[in-house]
Amino acid sequence: MAKFNVYVTRLIPVAGLTLLREFCNVEINPEDRPLTRDELLNNVKGRDGVISLLTDRIDGTVMDAAKGIKGFANYAVGFDNIVVPEATKRKIPVSNTPGVLTEATADMAWALLFAVCRRVVESDQFMRTGRWAGWGPLQYIGGDVTGRTLGVVGAGRIGTAMALKSKGFAMKVLYTDDIANPVLEKELGAKQVPFEELLKESDFVSVHVPLMESTRHLFNAKVFAKMKPTAYLINTSRGPVVHEAELVEALKKNVIAGAGLDVYEYEPKMVPGLADLVNVVVTPHTASATKETRTNMSIKAATNLLAMLKGERPPNCLNPEIYG
Ligand code: DGY
Repeated sequence: MAKFNVYVTRLIPVAGLTLLREFCNVEINPEDRPLTRDELLNNVKGRDGVISLLTDRIDGTVMDAAKGIKGFANYAVGFDNIVVPEATKRKIPVSNTPGVLTEATADMAWALLFAVCRRVVESDQFMRTGRWAGWGPLQYIGGDVTGRTLGVVGAGRIGTAMALKSKGFAMKVLYTDDIANPVLEKELGAKQVPFEELLKESDFVSVHVPLMESTRHLFNAKVFAKMKPTAYLINTSRGPVVHEAELVEALKKNVIAGAGLDVYEYEPKMVPGLADLVNVVVTPHTASATKETRTNMSIKAATNLLAMLKGERPPNCLNPEIYG
């Protein structure tokens, strides 16, 4: 049987590629950078399937360039880079990688929370200067974590995992979501509260909502003003959920105490001023970047794509309605 012709928009872990290679000729973007728009449009042409990344905008124009394609498998759980209704209109299946990055992303939210609240990065940078003259009672004082209130915005898979990890820190947990979360309520005695109440009561606000029109700039100047001046914002979801320029202003004016960010409004750029602030810890969208998780993401993306190529419904289909 002739092999399928597949394109991968950037090198991913080998496990997924090995799966694909059994049935497909696989071409991979040879550069260690996202494709330009023109490169993307050229490289999807004539392919049976594509593994795309969150840095590739897969819209109607790309889908038309990929005429005859059997599917796009996104190597990410977030899929705001894919215009799903355009795929549905063209009866092209699209998929994501839910589940396998839940714990790694939740772990990273905690890493950021501790790093910013206990001033780990600032302290590390200071130690490397060689200027530390010994223990001091007022050096690098941060805030407590144990016993404080955690507010989780979006109690889906990742928000739930993040909240459950608070158990060891005896925290009060509040959450906002459209639906009640019985796991959080049973395991932690967590309380579903209106957004405003969560903002007012929480010492740490951890964001776990997908990027949609309704969540774009959910966190803005007005919202920061409703948070405690001692509170920290943690974002491992999508950058545009936070109005980044307004966050910089809020941090400068100590409207809130600090922020731990893994995602940015205009990736790969940060808005001017953000990098100058000491009360921010920033990582380069690496919440899912563990060996195990990235390997599992590659396997999941490949498994989805192979199903699409065989004309089967992929396990993580984002537009199952196309199968009638
Ligand atoms: C995702 O899968 O959506 C993550 O942001 C990738 O790390």
